[in-house]
Amino acid sequence: MPANPLLICAPSPELRARLEQLREAGYATTSVETAADSVNALGAAPFDLIIAEGLAVSGAIGRIRGATTRQVPLIVVSPAGDVEARIAFLEAGADDVISASFALEELQARVEALLIRTGKARPEGAANRGAGRIVTFFAPKGGVGTTTLAVNSAVLLAGGPEAMQGRAARVLLIDLDLQFGQVATHLNLAPRYDIADLCSDEQALVDPALAATYLTMHTSGVSILAGPSNPEADFRITVDQLEKALRILRPAFDHVLVDCGSRLDPRTLWMLEQADTHVFVIFPEIAALRATTLMLGFLAETATLRATTHLVVNHIFPKELLKTRDVENLLRAKPVAEIPYSEVDMIRAVNEGVPVVFSRPSSPASRAIQVLTVAIVGAEWRQRPSPGKGPAPRRGGLRLGRR
Ligand SMILES: Nc1ncnc2c1ncn2[C@@H]1O[C@H](COP(=O)(O)OP(=O)(O)OP(=O)(O)O)[C@@H](O)[C@H]1O
Ligand SMILES: [Mg+2]
Repeated sequence: MPANPLLICAPSPELRARLEQLREAGYATTSVETAADSVNALGAAPFDLIIAEGLAVSGAIGRIRGATTRQVPLIVVSPAGDVEARIAFLEAGADDVISASFALEELQARVEALLIRTGKARPEGAANRGAGRIVTFFAPKGGVGTTTLAVNSAVLLAGGPEAMQGRAARVLLIDLDLQFGQVATHLNLAPRYDIADLCSDEQALVDPALAATYLTMHTSGVSILAGPSNPEADFRITVDQLEKALRILRPAFDHVLVDCGSRLDPRTLWMLEQADTHVFVIFPEIAALRATTLMLGFLAETATLRATTHLVVNHIFPKELLKTRDVENLLRAKPVAEIPYSEVDMIRAVNEGVPVVFSRPSSPASRAIQVLTVAIVGAEWRQRPSPGKGPAPRRGGLRLGRR
């Protein structure tokens, strides 16, 4: 049973009572009513996490953070349905934001996830379950939707468009497109730190709590290790640093999704070797297919792979340039999913930083991404029932490479 000491700060007796239900889950809660009381409490006793009503701490997050030298993660309870307030709290330094309409299971899941991410609790059953499963997204040609698919799968795994309801997975999304990675743009995030910062901090590479401070939390619950803010960082990041970063971050997550971009180099090759699942994104055009065939052959010859490989056809153009049957014949493999062309939704999703599975959850493209997501994690993840029938995953993956 968890016994982490939690500090609750809420002027509203009703909200305080709902937050104090965390006691039933075994947490040691202490409640106060104002930001000033929180500062005093933090100075007087060690706490592992703070949950505060947004209005009570609005403008006082910095003061609360400065009340103790310990790193105490903060969850802010934001007014229901107020997206701007959620963003404002995250920008002000909150580690996570939960809507005031939360269900107890969601609250528990977020508290647990944040405690694990900051090294203050161990994942339940971690010893049996092992560390997060790694899923890499790669395409030998750029601009074919690799980032779109990685980002949308990540937010689906973290709980989908609705509240997490206690069964969402802990998801880390790594942007390994080390020159021009745009994961943060797709999620409308402005990360304080990125992968290059983590890789250059030797202490963080051996300290899980410190390493977690390099992550940026998205409102979906996905933790992001953002791509470098300066393309020059690409020349400095080594396989050794990545290995340490993955080793220190991975145990706190159920799934580690990696956007590997479209360039094979020692870092992406190493990550492909670590993966449990590969997703290769294909644009149905002869040059892209030839590049895919070359890449698959190269990987089979040179890399030590243990992953199951899934091919995904993404229609980024309105015209069907090649039939899926032709693609299957050329690649001698069946794609696990086919994402239909949906220009306006996709461009708007990137421009607004809201993944299409959030903005248009019932669109054909979102449903196809759900199929892909179910396929890449298998039966471990059950899709929430949604109105209308979505297509079921059709085909298994293939295996490549030397073992
Ligand atoms: N199924 C689709 N229909 C229409 N447009 C799409 C589709 N999938 C992706 N796009 C659009 O294609 C563009 C490129 O997508 P994305 O950035 O995900 O590709 P990428 O392979 O990661 O590119 P890069 O090589 O630059 O990293 C974006 O504008 C995106 O909105
Ligand atoms: Mg990309």
